[in-house]
Amino acid sequence: MSSPAAKPPIDERRSPSDLPVPVVVRPEDAPIDYARDLADPGRFPFTRGVQPTMYRGRHWTMRQYAGFGTASETNARFKLLLAAGQTGLSTAFDLPTQMGIDSDSPRALGEVGRVGVAIDTVEDMHALLADLPLDRVSTSMTINATAAILLAMYVVVAEERGIDRATLSGTTQNDVLKEYIARGTYIYPPEPSLSLIAEMFRFCAAEVPQWNAISISGYHIREAGATAVQEVAFTFANAMEYVRRAVDAGLPVDAFAPRLSFFFAAHNDLFEEVAKFRAARRLYARLMRDRFGASDASARLRFHTQTGGVTLQAQQPLNNVVRVTVQALAAVLGGTQSLHTNGYDEALALPTAEAATLALRTQQVVAYESGAAQTVDPLAGSYYVESLTNELEARALALLEEVDAMGGSPEAIARGFFQEEIARSAYEHQLRVERGETVIVGVNRFADGEEPPVIPAPDFSALERSQVAQLAEVRRRRDGAAVERALAALREAAVPYAQPGAQRPPLMPLIIDAVRARASVGEISDTFADVWGRYRPVG
Ligand code: 3HC
Repeated sequence: MSSPAAKPPIDERRSPSDLPVPVVVRPEDAPIDYARDLADPGRFPFTRGVQPTMYRGRHWTMRQYAGFGTASETNARFKLLLAAGQTGLSTAFDLPTQMGIDSDSPRALGEVGRVGVAIDTVEDMHALLADLPLDRVSTSMTINATAAILLAMYVVVAEERGIDRATLSGTTQNDVLKEYIARGTYIYPPEPSLSLIAEMFRFCAAEVPQWNAISISGYHIREAGATAVQEVAFTFANAMEYVRRAVDAGLPVDAFAPRLSFFFAAHNDLFEEVAKFRAARRLYARLMRDRFGASDASARLRFHTQTGGVTLQAQQPLNNVVRVTVQALAAVLGGTQSLHTNGYDEALALPTAEAATLALRTQQVVAYESGAAQTVDPLAGSYYVESLTNELEARALALLEEVDAMGGSPEAIARGFFQEEIARSAYEHQLRVERGETVIVGVNRFADGEEPPVIPAPDFSALERSQVAQLAEVRRRRDGAAVERALAALREAAVPYAQPGAQRPPLMPLIIDAVRARASVGEISDTFADVWGRYRPVG
């Protein structure tokens, strides 16, 4: 232990999270009780990782987010990525699918197949998943307000392919609170939305036990401008709300909590990001134990990471390969379970196949060549990383307790608290960039004056026509009366989902019936909107 010499001069730089970063971090800055604060990997509070052997036992899942155009086009990209060595699937849906709008709706014009794959009925889902080994590969679906419908489609595709739903593994994002806060693809008001999410917890625990019913996301909160501290605090505020709602709906916490999953960003500040993931695991474990009496299995923070989209720059786009590599390293040194690495060209347009493959290769180099996967939590014991871990945990907890004092996430959202906090952080970050305090290579320093390339927006009109024609054909062939009966049953069963404390009948089986009858995403979504109304943000 170093002698207590006079402390060196502290030139406190500020990290993006406003954390003070002194010139020298000394042992006294990082007080750690190993048994209490770290413990071995795979043991409460899981600071060092959720598995005893972590990547020595199994690498993180290389799970590249993909989806555009028609289901068959996305199916082809899935196969390309699996052939290139990725180990999990991750589906991007177009905005009409996410917003419960059919491709033939005037409200879908210009968006069909644009930011993700167009899915109208279970027939599209069959095309999306064609020839994919659903009993061996897990599939993530980035879907929120319509998550229950897309999960029902996944279950019906498996059923119609003779695959037992109990063997299906994957994740539905299904995190509507962050949609109100940061991402915007909400449809219904909070009460029915949260009740439907609790129903999905029930259904998955009972019938699709390997499915992660929710991926509680900090990624989009961070992308909107939040700091690392806010990302953790606001994500956990949402998590506490989901757990509370499920417990209030009568589900024992250990019946569903082991399958709660999370989703975070990895930004450029390597050590802060590693500390963020370590602090998040420890904070979550303590919250679940102390607030809900959860078992250790329910207190493990299992998460997916995506490298920070907002850090990608249009100027000198190849610099993004380096950013993504640093961010991927942060996720791995931080103990992620699953990882998406961004394409270097995504500040300009959807990634080319070449950029998507390079992004995957980046993960593979980190996994197989860097040595970062060779041992568990290699940065443990670093004075800097441990002091940052302590600082991030303390600040995230304090901010979470502020939200608690307001009455929890729904109340904080209604007050605009999250939105204001995030906007302030985003503004302060932009000021630091414009003052040159935060350096972005190629942008505010080492710029070369070259204008970023302009990528012409692809023409989606042909795709739109073919998708609309396909939907019309499904409608022509299906048993219209069976669809009407299924939608009527949904309409009736949905009523108590908007009534706090009401006894609610299982809804997932009825959604599955409607999907099996070839009802469309729009028809089912509109049925719910007729009963629940549509969310209108305050202010
Ligand atoms: N020893 C023993 N077993 C191990 C192990 C080890 N070292 N490591 C892993 N395993 C086991 C796990 O226990 C698990 O088995 P189980 O299911 O029986 O528990 C199995 O191996 C698979 O491991 P993980 O569960 O850790 O990995 P997965 O990849 O299957 O799951 C997840 C990871 C985070 C839990 C899951 O929720 C997931 O895949 N999430 C992905 C979410 C995602 O892709 N989101 C993308 C969103 S894109 C977006 O929103 C951005 C856009 O809007 C811009």
